[in-house]
Amino acid sequence: MYLTVEQEKMLRGDYGWAIAKAMEIIVRVGEALGAEELVKVEHVHVSGISYSTIGKYGLEFIRELALRAGKANVFTTVNPGCIDYSGLSRIIDNSLAGYQKLIDESLEKMRFKLVYTCIPYFYRPPLPGEHLAWGESSAVIFANSIYGGFTNREGSPVALAASLTGYTYKAGLHLLENRIGRVEVKMPAPLLKVPIGAIGLWIGENIKAIPYIRGLCNISLDEVKNILASMAASGNHALAVIEGITPRGTFKIELEEQVEVENNVLEDYIGGEYSGDSILGYIGCPHSSPRELLEIWRLMRKYGRIRRGKMLVTIPVEFTKLYRGIILELKARGVDIATGTCPVVSKFREKFDYILTNSGKALFYLERIHRVKVKLARVEEIVKELFGL
Ligand code: F3S
Repeated sequence: MYLTVEQEKMLRGDYGWAIAKAMEIIVRVGEALGAEELVKVEHVHVSGISYSTIGKYGLEFIRELALRAGKANVFTTVNPGCIDYSGLSRIIDNSLAGYQKLIDESLEKMRFKLVYTCIPYFYRPPLPGEHLAWGESSAVIFANSIYGGFTNREGSPVALAASLTGYTYKAGLHLLENRIGRVEVKMPAPLLKVPIGAIGLWIGENIKAIPYIRGLCNISLDEVKNILASMAASGNHALAVIEGITPRGTFKIELEEQVEVENNVLEDYIGGEYSGDSILGYIGCPHSSPRELLEIWRLMRKYGRIRRGKMLVTIPVEFTKLYRGIILELKARGVDIATGTCPVVSKFREKFDYILTNSGKALFYLERIHRVKVKLARVEEIVKELFGL
């Protein structure tokens, strides 16, 4: 691989152990993937920082980088941790707070911006054609497909290494020639007959190449976010070219196949029938946007208070300050708000019989992680269920 003089110095250890180690990771991974050079990145997002997912080996790796003077060389944000940072949630279990705090101290020492969210584009939306090194599958596919950023799905070691060096390897989705939509996917009609996450789960499972999705212009960006996160969960996708949305010049189209999604097949992707009394309504995977919070608030005002089960909404930590009034009112109406975390990267304090969620990604992971029945529903359906309407 070709390295500039500066990159050679980094690799040789002229800037210290942490940068040399980081450069070694980037070069090794890049060479394995056939990269011929490195590319400068403008924003790194590190996904694996929750103690409940990375465990003690991940903690030790991050601490060692911090102790040996590793510092962010580029704007770097982080994914949710395994605790509710507001400390007010009665649903999320904060018993791993001691370990999570050790990780957080190291991340702070490395000068990362501790947003603890999977919607880092809320803090810094990427520009079309900008190179990034992001982890977190839902954020990666959103950056590539909605903003036209150029990023692969990076695991934590590569993202951390990219933060310390400011570079990543130039391969995969960093090259325009690999950003080609090959399967035209036409949306079902009517579009919103089943909860929208089911469409993403279906595409992820059934389409292997980069899809060119048509017919999504009339739904909200939050619904598109839900579809993309769901397809990234069920199918490892990192880019979908979306007609009328993905910025021009960041993709090509060379169609080989056309597929039409039909509503009757989507029924298989909304989860099975549920039973039991202990119900949790969950919204906020990926983390709720301000518009989604407002929508929940509007529905709560319309219907009153929760009478059955519990409701959890997950948001970025900063929203507690930015949307304080709305959050206080939601809490007063019985909604549990957890900040900087989510049930996929943390634990519950209690066992639920079933979960109703609007998120295809949450359905995909919660069933596997918490061994609980999960069903997809629209936000209004979830609220009505909990209000006993
Ligand atoms: Fe975010 Fe957790 Fe879902 S990190 S995308 S809320 S699984």
